[in-house]
Amino acid sequence: MTDTSSGNQAVNQAAGGNADEAKNPDPLGFDPTMQRVKVSDKRLLGCKNADVNQLMPLKYHWAWEHYLNGCSNNWLPTEVPMTKDIETWRSQKLTDDERLMIMRNLGFFATAESLVANNLVLAIFTHVTNPECRQYLLRQAFEEAVHTHTFHYVVESLGLDEGEIFNMYHEIPAISRKDAFEIELTKEISDPNFNPETFENKQAFLKNLIGYYVIMEGIFFYSGFVMMLSLQRRNLMTGVGEQFQYIMRDETIHLNFGIDLINGIKAENPEIWTQEFQDEMVAKIREAVELEAAYAKDCLPNGIMGLSAPLFREYAEHIADRRLERIGLPTQYNSSNPFEWMSEMMDLSKEKNFFETRVIEYQTAGNLDWD
Ligand SMILES: [Fe+2]
Ligand SMILES: [Fe+2]
Repeated sequence: MTDTSSGNQAVNQAAGGNADEAKNPDPLGFDPTMQRVKVSDKRLLGCKNADVNQLMPLKYHWAWEHYLNGCSNNWLPTEVPMTKDIETWRSQKLTDDERLMIMRNLGFFATAESLVANNLVLAIFTHVTNPECRQYLLRQAFEEAVHTHTFHYVVESLGLDEGEIFNMYHEIPAISRKDAFEIELTKEISDPNFNPETFENKQAFLKNLIGYYVIMEGIFFYSGFVMMLSLQRRNLMTGVGEQFQYIMRDETIHLNFGIDLINGIKAENPEIWTQEFQDEMVAKIREAVELEAAYAKDCLPNGIMGLSAPLFREYAEHIADRRLERIGLPTQYNSSNPFEWMSEMMDLSKEKNFFETRVIEYQTAGNLDWD
C-alpha cells in the first residue's frame, strides 16, 4: 500500500529507525519518535513532520469551518414525504418529455454520487496528509452515502425499475461519457504504486481534485439540480425537489472545500502550477462543458417548459467560468446565466431549517435505546 500516513519514513531514518520500519511505515501514522505537532509543520500533501492523528492545533481553519458547516446540515431522505410525488408520477400531470428528463436525471445521480464517494475514500483521503482536511473528508463521505441513499429512496418510492436507473451509467452514452471522464481520473490516483511525492503525481492529484470537485460536483451536478428544481417551482415532484435542495446545500460546501483544497495545494506547491498544466485544466473544463451539453440534449430532446438543451449549454458555460475564476484560471465563455432563479433556490436551501419542518426526533445520548 502507498505510504499515506505522515511521511514517517524520513522521520524514522532521521531517528535511526531500522530499514524495515523505514520501508513499511505504520499505516495509521503512529510513530513514537514524533515530537508535538507544530502548526508550521502541517502540510496538505506529503506531510513529513506532523502526526496525521493529531487534529489540534489547527492550521487550515477553512477545513474545520467546512466540517462544522456540514455537521449543521444533517438530514435523511426518508424524512421527506413522497406521497405527493407518487401521486404525480402515477397521474397524467407529467408529459413524456418530463418523465424522460426525470429518469435520466436520476440515472446520472444514482451512480455519480457513488463515484464521488469512492474517489473520495480510495483516492483523495489516502493522499491528503492533514487531519483537519481528513476530518472534513470523513463528513463528506457520510453525506455522499446519504445522497446515494436518496436516489435509492426515490426509485423505491416511485416504483421505478432500479436496474434501469442504476445501469444508465453503462447504458446511456451521454451519462457513460461523463462518468468515463471521471473514472479515468480515479484510476490514476488509486493505483497502489501511486507515489504522491513526485512532480507529475502532484499534478495528477490536483487534476483529480479539479475533475471531481470542480467538474463533477461543481458543473455536472448543477445542471441536474436545475432540472429537478424547475419542476419543484411548478409544484411538480416537490418531495424530490426538497431532497435536491438538501443535496445542493451539501454540494455547495463540497465545492467550497474542494476549491480551498485545490488553492491550498497550489500555494504549497507552486512549481506544479505550470502554464502547460493550467492549459490542460482549462481544456478539461471545456471538454466537460461539451459532455454536459450532450447530456442535456439526451435529457431534453424536445425541451420542456423553460428548459432546453441550448439553455443548458449556456448554463454550463456560465458556471464553468465561475469555477475557473475561483481556481485562478481564465474565464472562457462570458455566457450569461439563463437560470437566474437558481440563486434564489440556493438562498432558500441555505435558510431551510430542517428541524422546523420535520417531526422526526433524532436519538441523542439521553434516549439511547439498544432494542
Ligand atoms: Fe453528493
Ligand atoms: Fe458531493
